[in-house]
Amino acid sequence: MSETIESTDLPHLGRDFVHDPYPQYAELRESGPVQPVLGHDGVVQWIVTRYEDVRRLLVDPRMSSAMTKVLKPDHADGQKRFRIDETLQNAMTNQDPPGHTRIRKTVVRAFSARRVDGMRPRIQQLTDELLEKMDSTEPVDLVEALATPIPVAVSCEMLGVPVADRPFFNTQMDLLMGAGNAQEKIGPAKALTGYMAEQVKLKRADLGDDVLSGMIAASEEEGRLNDRELVASAVQMLFAGYLTTVYAIGVGVYWLLKHPEQLADIRRDPGLLPGAVEELLRFDSPPVPGVLRYATEDIEVGDTTIPANSLVLLSVSAANRDPERFPEPDRLDIHRPDIAHMAFGFGIHYCVGARLATMECVVAIGSLLSRYPDLELAVPDDQLEWELKSFTRNLAKLPLYLHGKPA
Ligand code: HEM
Repeated sequence: MSETIESTDLPHLGRDFVHDPYPQYAELRESGPVQPVLGHDGVVQWIVTRYEDVRRLLVDPRMSSAMTKVLKPDHADGQKRFRIDETLQNAMTNQDPPGHTRIRKTVVRAFSARRVDGMRPRIQQLTDELLEKMDSTEPVDLVEALATPIPVAVSCEMLGVPVADRPFFNTQMDLLMGAGNAQEKIGPAKALTGYMAEQVKLKRADLGDDVLSGMIAASEEEGRLNDRELVASAVQMLFAGYLTTVYAIGVGVYWLLKHPEQLADIRRDPGLLPGAVEELLRFDSPPVPGVLRYATEDIEVGDTTIPANSLVLLSVSAANRDPERFPEPDRLDIHRPDIAHMAFGFGIHYCVGARLATMECVVAIGSLLSRYPDLELAVPDDQLEWELKSFTRNLAKLPLYLHGKPA
């Protein structure tokens, strides 16, 4: 069991890891298919780093996402980590079938491709407004000025919650995701679920054309979701699409600036951008160190056994750099012909927001590049601070010189 392992002898996913996880991923991948590590949060977990293993285990029903239901009461590490708000335990990401299947069906129905595609003009408008506001006479922090406000605004609009409440969401989500332990999560989790419960009540009386209204309508028609599940699903849509998309936009721009020839290719042919966004998501995938599961039985991975009742990290970000799957994986190559990455996961929990997230990235990065052709990093790499919050690595700030607006 993971608690009985002497944690001081384990590889630690610490500060160096957060700054650049890829050298440690490569060591772990070479030393074996799976090994126990001490996570950034001090919790012992078994990490799986090879592409084929991660993909196989993501569809293995012995790997549970319903931590709070299956976790043994004496699992001290797990209890420390998962004692979150009771309502949020109803979110589909924390469920196994059949509950997961039922909730996901309703959410996917409300979050249709038609509805997502219909948001593109609004995402473009939001992006243009943010670009317009930037002061090109001094360095601009792209994380604050563009990468953060877009996902927050888009998620609020998607759910149909008032624009005026965006600062509240920002604050509560930052508190929730930055929380160092379960105790610190309780306040913001309660604030968000309480707020969303109010929104569900209001919308029920006056349904609109948004995703939350769609979820309410679908559950009323077919009795699929109870109120707790509705509230949890709505809050989950907010935070699942928040830091991940902040990362994809901010870090995506950073890596393009570090690869000027490929950036020039995109400027010459903007049609390359959607493929480039996929390659950026492969090259530096937001879910770090990976997605978490709980082993309900002993599970063999190669010649190693993950003991039953262990926490398991399926490292999609390590898998996306596996040389057995991607030739020269440490090279960013926007012309790569085969980019079947797992940044959005795989299997029954595959990201519901993948289509929306890639659209946000294409619009935000494309508009920034075309508006500011001479964009440049304003600080050297050693002044950039990387942080890890709630399973997403991020740049705290990304200062850029915009070099003026084109005439
Ligand atoms: C670049 C941005 C994003 C990345 C890299 C990302 C990544 C992921 C990953 C890896 C999973 C699977 C988790 C697991 O297997 O346990 C997931 C699930 C999910 N994502 Fe995303 N995501 C992004 C954006 C979004 C957005 C914008 C939304 C919603 C608006 C969203 C909503 C969800 C939901 C609801 C789930 C749970 C699905 C389920 O449990 O069936 N994500 N995401």
